[in-house]
Amino acid sequence: MSPYAHIAGWGMYAPAKVLSNQDLERMVDTSDEWIRSRTGIAERRIAGEKESTSTMAVEAARRALARAHLSPRQLDAIIVATISPDYLTPATACLVQAALGADRAAAFDVSAGCSGFVYALHLAHIGIAAGEWRSVLIIGAETLSRFVNWEDRATCVLFGDGAGALVLVASDQPGGVLACVLGADGSGAELLSIPAGGSRMPASPETLSQRAHTIQMDGRAVYRFATHIIPEAVEQVMRKAGLPLSAVDMIIPHQANIRIIEAARKKLRLPEEAFYINLYRYGNTSGASIPIALCEVAEHELINDGSVVVLVGFGAGLTWGAAAVRWGVPLPQPARPWHQRVLYLGRALLGRLPAFLRKLLYRLWHILPSQRDG
Ligand code: ACO
Repeated sequence: MSPYAHIAGWGMYAPAKVLSNQDLERMVDTSDEWIRSRTGIAERRIAGEKESTSTMAVEAARRALARAHLSPRQLDAIIVATISPDYLTPATACLVQAALGADRAAAFDVSAGCSGFVYALHLAHIGIAAGEWRSVLIIGAETLSRFVNWEDRATCVLFGDGAGALVLVASDQPGGVLACVLGADGSGAELLSIPAGGSRMPASPETLSQRAHTIQMDGRAVYRFATHIIPEAVEQVMRKAGLPLSAVDMIIPHQANIRIIEAARKKLRLPEEAFYINLYRYGNTSGASIPIALCEVAEHELINDGSVVVLVGFGAGLTWGAAAVRWGVPLPQPARPWHQRVLYLGRALLGRLPAFLRKLLYRLWHILPSQRDG
């Protein structure tokens, strides 16, 4: 029998710096009233100078691993969903892997806009169901503040930074991820993009002066797409899970805009409390928004063992995805005595040592004369 993929741990990280609508009023021609009424956002978090997508991802991952009582060395794969990676290459997941010392894990990124986290969840699910992986870490992490044109009021008020992570483990206990649906419509690629910095429009003084390295968006078109795709994806994934829509206990949508979520909710004819919304405090954190919201839902115990949760994302690509999950941590989670916690911390720190030593070795290889140099 194929193993089930259960969520065994969750963790989030939000940078300390808060940027309020009032702060934005001093930066561009906007108002708190406009932002709140058009988007629902009151404030967002902005990464500090020393923070990046990988550092926030690592923080969220550590918290998720600790909750799952798993050491990084037990991970088979690390998948990071992001559209604001540290580098074009290597993958942010590789930086996370080295920082955690997860040296048995494969590591790669997924780029699927704000649906990226659901794509990552689906990959983890099929990897576990196929018997290929036993423990997978998936992370949604973004530093969109570095890709926003802070002079463009139409976009700079929307986005924020942060990271959320889940640990999925294989279990014979039925439950966990029940079904996923993914979709894409590349004909809408230009509706939301960062045009420069890739192979089509490499970085140049012109692209810099045109601010072509920042997010460009046709807000109205994305809005229309989102309001029809959310209900469609939710209905599809529930059908695939073999459950009626009435079985949903909680929907965690991508947190882009309160009006989008409201329109989708009305189409689905679900009550307000069926949707978890936290975009007031974080803005749109793209690939990180669903896991951050899920962490808050889990932390505040808004769902119980057996609850059916639907995660639904949409965004750049255009892409969309939904996952139906039956909540319930499969493994016994005893409170651990202090000496075990110290041991866990020690192992986590020691686990980073091999990656550190290999880094040194690669530097040495670079410095030492090669055979060709004679
Ligand atoms: N403050 C004040 N006025 C503004 C601002 C602002 N921050 N931004 C735009 N306006 C003005 C516009 O200039 C326009 O003025 P005009 O009528 O004089 O031309 C007016 O407000 C209305 O502009 P619209 O773009 O029509 O405003 P709309 O009601 O559509 O709201 C918004 C814009 C919030 C962007 C909305 O379209 C939206 O949420 N779209 C979806 C965006 C989204 O979810 N994107 C993320 C997808 S996920 C991913 O992959 C990253």
